[in-house]
Amino acid sequence: MVEVSRHDIIIVGAGAAGIRAAIAAAEKDPSASIAMISKVYPMRSHTVSAEGGAAAVARDDDNQEMHGWDTVKGSDFLGDQNVIDYFVEEAPKELALLENWGCPWSRNDDGTVATRAFGGMTVKRTWYAADKVGFHMLHSLFQHSMRFDNIVRYDEYFVTKLLVENGRACGVAMLDIRTGEMKAALAGAVVIASGGAGKVFPFTTNGMIKTGDGMSLAYRAGVGLKDMEFVQYHPTGLPGTGILITEATRGEGGYLRNSEGSRFLVDYDYGVGNKAELGPRDMISRAIIQEFEAGRGIPDKHGEHANLDLTHLGEEAIMFKLPFVRELAKTYVGVDPVHEPIPIRPVVHYMMGGIDTDVTAATSMPGLYAAGETACASLNGANRLGSNSLTECLVFGASAGRNALDFAKGSDAGNEAALTAQAEEEAGRIESFRGSQRGEEKISGIRKELNLSMESGCGVYREQETMQTCVEEVDALKQRSQHLKLDDPSKVFNTELIAALELTAMIDVAESLVNAAVARKESRGAHTCRDFPTRDDENFLHHSVAFREEGARPRIEKKEVTLGHWVPEERKY
Ligand code: FUM
Repeated sequence: MVEVSRHDIIIVGAGAAGIRAAIAAAEKDPSASIAMISKVYPMRSHTVSAEGGAAAVARDDDNQEMHGWDTVKGSDFLGDQNVIDYFVEEAPKELALLENWGCPWSRNDDGTVATRAFGGMTVKRTWYAADKVGFHMLHSLFQHSMRFDNIVRYDEYFVTKLLVENGRACGVAMLDIRTGEMKAALAGAVVIASGGAGKVFPFTTNGMIKTGDGMSLAYRAGVGLKDMEFVQYHPTGLPGTGILITEATRGEGGYLRNSEGSRFLVDYDYGVGNKAELGPRDMISRAIIQEFEAGRGIPDKHGEHANLDLTHLGEEAIMFKLPFVRELAKTYVGVDPVHEPIPIRPVVHYMMGGIDTDVTAATSMPGLYAAGETACASLNGANRLGSNSLTECLVFGASAGRNALDFAKGSDAGNEAALTAQAEEEAGRIESFRGSQRGEEKISGIRKELNLSMESGCGVYREQETMQTCVEEVDALKQRSQHLKLDDPSKVFNTELIAALELTAMIDVAESLVNAAVARKESRGAHTCRDFPTRDDENFLHHSVAFREEGARPRIEKKEVTLGHWVPEERKY
């Protein structure tokens, strides 16, 4: 029999969104039991690696209308305006709250919170703590969460299945990675906050853990994945490793240069011609690729790169505001940015798409909520503005925690015997997977082919033909993944089993992504299709929602975009 625990709500994931959800629920009802389950120890969540900052209105020359408009325009008008309204209103409150919990925001000389410029934002509204923002935010959240005895942590547990009764989320089945035992946790509601899926691509800023597990959990339970075709390429990753060099470098005045030493972005006018290095990420990534295609890339052993020049900022400014960038550049490419430019190229950074949620963080399944990168509340539409996502984790993490708790209080506990039986069945599936010899396929081989296929099909620039090839390759890889050869039958920290489970999730993400991409016959935000180079509002001003179909490709449905007082227009900067 699997061991069963019972809580009021369960949160899957313990990064910024997950911990914020847990705190919100724990504060709302100190008598409620909040389970927080994570496949890694919370301080190893990917939030820790965020660098540049979190956006919220803080200055007299800014207001929520401006933040909202920048976000709507950045989204290429695919963001839902009710969600954006809610976000910009809650954002400053969340960042101030985080300061109360210990987050050491950098200050201006007069003691006010310092803000920096970020791409696509009309004023300086990105709060920062030098260039280790994620580290400080996660520390503050984690330490604050430890004040609540009613948050029960399950560190290093891998959730393998949502337990659903009568169409309602009632718990999870999970693998205790340390012991290899399967367990069940039951609750009145479940929040998924387990991060993105950048590891579906070979060259990414994302840590090893970002394999789309949460998206897959929802998708397998019949919940749609929304706007998966929109993949954000960050303009400045280190060649080779993909390590992020924060956009704050450009916010603080850095330049991008091509092989001729020219500051080429001043020639890419994005329509009006004054943003240069502070344009949005989709446009800058395209500009860099165009430079490569025009023969102005700088060849290296990884292909080509452009240069990020900070030398004119001076050592004092770099050490004060960008010390981590200096450390990363020295350590990973042997370059001291005080004296030399940093080689960079566009790198997969963020999934705009995810589990389809609304402004309350609710999904279409009663009792199931999602927040953070794993979710798609439609804040970011077709292109996210840098520094909106950390704030998004807080704003929608908090509402997910509170709303899930409200839902749980209004619903019955579910049939424990029936839910436990589901968990037993899942335990049997996982047990038969461990060390199984279903064929000759290697996890690493399929994963590598999947990565390469996604890179060639769903890059910065896309074409119908290469996307279609990718669809077929993903079909074939999905088939082959049924014939994995696992060599390790052991129970304790069986990392091969975890890798196999992660591979399944990545295939789910990949098939929803590429099938949504091939269906969108226009260019919008980060989805740039050479065959259809312009935005087509008449036919494609809608979300795409991918639903899993057993033994077939996903079904892609259209969903209306919630417009408001911001009217779609040509996107110019
Ligand atoms: O460049 C950066 O620091 C990334 C920020 C973000 O993705 O929001």
